[in-house]
Amino acid sequence: MRAMGDLKGKSVLVTGGSQGLGAFFGETLAAHGARVALAARNTASCEAVAERLRTQGAEVMALSIDVTDPTSAEAAVAAVAERWGGLDVLVNNAGVTATTPLLDMDEAGWDRIMDTNLKGAFLVGQAAARAMAQGPGGAIVNVASILGLRVAGQVAAYAASKAALVQLTCSMALEWARYKIRANALCPGYIETDLNRDFFESEAGAALVRRIPFRRLGRLEDLAGPLVFLCSDAAAYMTGATLAIDGGHLVSSL
Ligand SMILES: NC(=O)c1ccc[n+]([C@@H]2O[C@H](COP(=O)([O-])OP(=O)(O)OC[C@H]3O[C@@H](n4cnc5c(N)ncnc54)[C@H](OP(=O)(O)O)[C@@H]3O)[C@@H](O)[C@H]2O)c1
Repeated sequence: MRAMGDLKGKSVLVTGGSQGLGAFFGETLAAHGARVALAARNTASCEAVAERLRTQGAEVMALSIDVTDPTSAEAAVAAVAERWGGLDVLVNNAGVTATTPLLDMDEAGWDRIMDTNLKGAFLVGQAAARAMAQGPGGAIVNVASILGLRVAGQVAAYAASKAALVQLTCSMALEWARYKIRANALCPGYIETDLNRDFFESEAGAALVRRIPFRRLGRLEDLAGPLVFLCSDAAAYMTGATLAIDGGHLVSSL
């Protein structure tokens, strides 16, 4: 019997793999035996992460992708399939945000967030599904957010993009089940990274943390188990699901 969470020999594409959650996801999946392609616009940053993972014995490649461009999305999927004989898992992680009051949001700002977080997931997801459908199927994990399930101020475009991504996940699950492709959404709460550490050390950040029932931010490691689970055969009968990893933030008292 294959061990639960074993990804040995699986080929994985992680978008937004140059830093933050994506780099951590790549490292986690490689540690569980997967061959991992890290893709972002900044290929040099992907290569730096890939180089570090290779020293840990992982089979990793760095790829260029702009998820908003269909040709680029198709090329990245094709590069993985060509190198490793197919694509088994896609982690749609690339994402951008901006803090803007809705009255001040302009069209370009709205489009940048929607194009990356929603259209990008569709484009890369469709290219991946076409490749997976030619093989034994596969798994897609769409990285959404608890802001796709509840709102906060000044992140309207981001919250709308992530809510739509949750619904897109359900459509992928419904339409692609016949090809043995599973699609699930991972909804992290607030995760501490280099980019937001300063904010969470401020009074406003501390006040936000007090509203999380666990009274702490999420850590990258908190996402590892749920991610590996959704990517692996341990979740073989699971599709169209939304998994929140948020220390209870979504159930905080109103
Ligand atoms: N951090 C959190 O607390 C948190 C919580 C919930 C959900 N999330 C979600 O988790 C994901 C990763 O977040 P993060 O905090 O790790 O963000 P991050 O550090 O800003 O990383 C974003 C990644 O997306 C890539 N990217 C952006 N636009 C792209 C494009 N057009 N094409 C290809 N790649 C693109 C970036 O690389 P390039 O700029 O080089 O392309 C980078 O690798 C996002 O979807 C985010 O919404 C994060």
